[in-house]
Amino acid sequence: MSNTTNQSWGGRFSEPTDAFVARFTASVDFDRRLYHHDIRGSIAHATMLERVGVLTSDECEAIVQGLGEVEREIEAEQFPWSVELEDVHMNIEARLTEKIGITGKKLHTGRSRNDQIATDIRLYLRDEIDIVAAELARLREGLIELATREADTIMPGFTHLQTAQPVSFGHHLLAWQEMLARDHERLLDCRKRVNVMPLGAAALAGTTYPIDRHVTAELLGFERPAENSLDAVSDRDFAIEFGAFASVLLMHLSRMSEELVLWTSAQFDFIDLPDRFCTGSSIMPQKKNPDVPELVRGKTGRVYGHLMGLLTLMKSQPLAYNKDNQEDKEPLFDTLDTVQGCLKAFADMVPAIEAKTDNMFEAARKGFSTATDLADYLVRAGVAFRDAHEIVGQAVALGLREQKDLSEMSLDELRQFSDAIQADVFEVLTLEGSVAARNHIGGTAPDQVRAAAQRARDALATLQQEA
Ligand code: ARG
Repeated sequence: MSNTTNQSWGGRFSEPTDAFVARFTASVDFDRRLYHHDIRGSIAHATMLERVGVLTSDECEAIVQGLGEVEREIEAEQFPWSVELEDVHMNIEARLTEKIGITGKKLHTGRSRNDQIATDIRLYLRDEIDIVAAELARLREGLIELATREADTIMPGFTHLQTAQPVSFGHHLLAWQEMLARDHERLLDCRKRVNVMPLGAAALAGTTYPIDRHVTAELLGFERPAENSLDAVSDRDFAIEFGAFASVLLMHLSRMSEELVLWTSAQFDFIDLPDRFCTGSSIMPQKKNPDVPELVRGKTGRVYGHLMGLLTLMKSQPLAYNKDNQEDKEPLFDTLDTVQGCLKAFADMVPAIEAKTDNMFEAARKGFSTATDLADYLVRAGVAFRDAHEIVGQAVALGLREQKDLSEMSLDELRQFSDAIQADVFEVLTLEGSVAARNHIGGTAPDQVRAAAQRARDALATLQQEA
């Protein structure tokens, strides 16, 4: 820092800011990312000031023109960013004043950096949410299409990661899709509360100029001006909400990742991921590692961390604006980058998943996955469920001893456990029969899976129309 005090607020200071303090308190290195939204907010503010007679139309025109030039400079990477000017707001305003002279200094009339930054973040986050929503929709579409293709593919369903009952692979994929559908709703719900305008709150109490906040809100596409100036400049709960959405989403993506990692292993060998989503090992030539899902699983940690950071940043802050809030940006930006990256990776990868249907089928055949079906069969033949459970348990024990599945036993072998068993038992012991029998909404029968996929498609379209 030079030996002059800061030009934007130095009037009451008798010595310049300490050079380290200037760097320590500056945010321009990260908040410059908001330049487009800062300029957009400033143009709306100037336009409103002109409409209410605070700026002349010549002044407004000069400001709007000048801000346009500044934006082009930034985009051409010719903008002289300066840490001494602290943040994105003062960098842009100083450059505007260099370009258009004293009129540039009128832009800040009736405004504070406190309502300016709160407005910038909301405008920025709103646009980024729309990008996230589009990627999320693309991933959901990919899952729905893959599920439709794989409705008849049978795999083992698991509880405790032990083979439980056979399910349709499409059904499994639609379970993932349901998780994402709820995330999508959470995201769009969060957007509603992001889309409220702080501008006009000024430093904390409002301003003495005859501003019209409805005009600025409309120019910026906000739903409405924020009700309370103290609240508008201070709370970052909307960023916390986005962090909470992101954390739940990444939790879901980490679960999908975990299964993809398991399924690509030689031990499961249920799917193949194309080489372009994998990497090799520098020492083990045979390796093909599922890096993309592993990395997404790992990135969950930083997103949870940012949520905790934002919550803690906000905790116990007295009204109204406090400098603490400058710390909201880096976690929010990194959350956005991470979420967008993970969603893109998944949306690109999911349609390319290749099911190894024979291996899935074989795995489902091995784990006595139709044992429940045999019990249900016995119940239909008049046996009480608890007794049926016991009978099937004995049959499984025999299967374990003799290494054969229930469907591989002869009728006589099965009948030694219960004479309620008839020749038609083999219809329920097949994997296809077992899956097809769960034929109700939410069940795994392939016809149900196809119907569920269609409903998912419709629900996605409706959500996108409402947005
Ligand atoms: N850089 C600040 C932030 O990110 C902008 C608002 C600063 N306001 C102030 N009075 N220092 O929160």
